[in-house]
Amino acid sequence: MHEPILQLDGVTAGYGPTHVLRGIDLSLAAGERLAVIGRNGAGKTTLLSTIMGLARLHEGSVRLDGHAIGHLPPFRRNERGLGLVPQTRDIFPSLTVEENLLAAMRGDATLDEAYALFPRLKERRRNGGAQLSGGEQQMLAIARTLMTGPKVILLDEPLEGLAPVICEMLMRTFEDLASNGSRAVVLVEQHAEAALAFAERAILMANGAIVHSGPAQELKDRPDLLHRHVGVGIET
Ligand SMILES: Nc1ncnc2c1ncn2[C@@H]1O[C@H](COP(=O)(O)OP(=O)(O)OP(=O)(O)O)[C@@H](O)[C@H]1O
Ligand SMILES: [Mg+2]
Repeated sequence: MHEPILQLDGVTAGYGPTHVLRGIDLSLAAGERLAVIGRNGAGKTTLLSTIMGLARLHEGSVRLDGHAIGHLPPFRRNERGLGLVPQTRDIFPSLTVEENLLAAMRGDATLDEAYALFPRLKERRRNGGAQLSGGEQQMLAIARTLMTGPKVILLDEPLEGLAPVICEMLMRTFEDLASNGSRAVVLVEQHAEAALAFAERAILMANGAIVHSGPAQELKDRPDLLHRHVGVGIET
């Protein structure tokens, strides 16, 4: 096992004085694919927000590449290699696809990379963000995050509300993103089957805590664990 790229120890976090997460210990290796599964309100988004600096860290530490980052604002964490694709698919609706990408671009990222990953975005490059379908907006949100060159990419329910054919296409893209071996991918999903097909390891969350952590294969073999811990089944 390599040095962890991302490590959370004894994390308690929330919004203002409210505690949402408690006792979170989590370690992610470089290039690892991790699924985070749990029902609505379990704390999945808050976990990603805490890693990104968008929620308040009350106790514990967040480390990236061995350096404490818990005190850094979100843009500094982004500069250090954390990329979040938020559940809300934040894009600029009044800018074109290409302008959205250029606004996010940093380092040696190129438009060609984004267009190679999502040919649909190239076809739509002069369209306004607001004119895109839900699936295209998600592609753009992902491509924007990639333009910042992340070492760890955090995907918050990227399949939510999208047609099955788009979900399959996005899942293949996530495989591509993880396949360079150095980019770790954290995939938050309620679609347990898709998440487990993608991930090497999974954590299950309930009531702001990690209630199970182990190989994805174990949860595929034992769907009763999913039912017991998070009350979600393997469907679709
Ligand atoms: N900005 C906020 N301020 C206060 N409480 C919040 C805020 N955002 C979320 N919460 C609360 O934190 C808890 C966890 O919410 P969170 O959004 O992390 O869940 P989730 O697992 O991502 O759910 P979903 O699957 O619905 O996206 C919930 O009880 C929620 O009401
Ligand atoms: Mg959420």
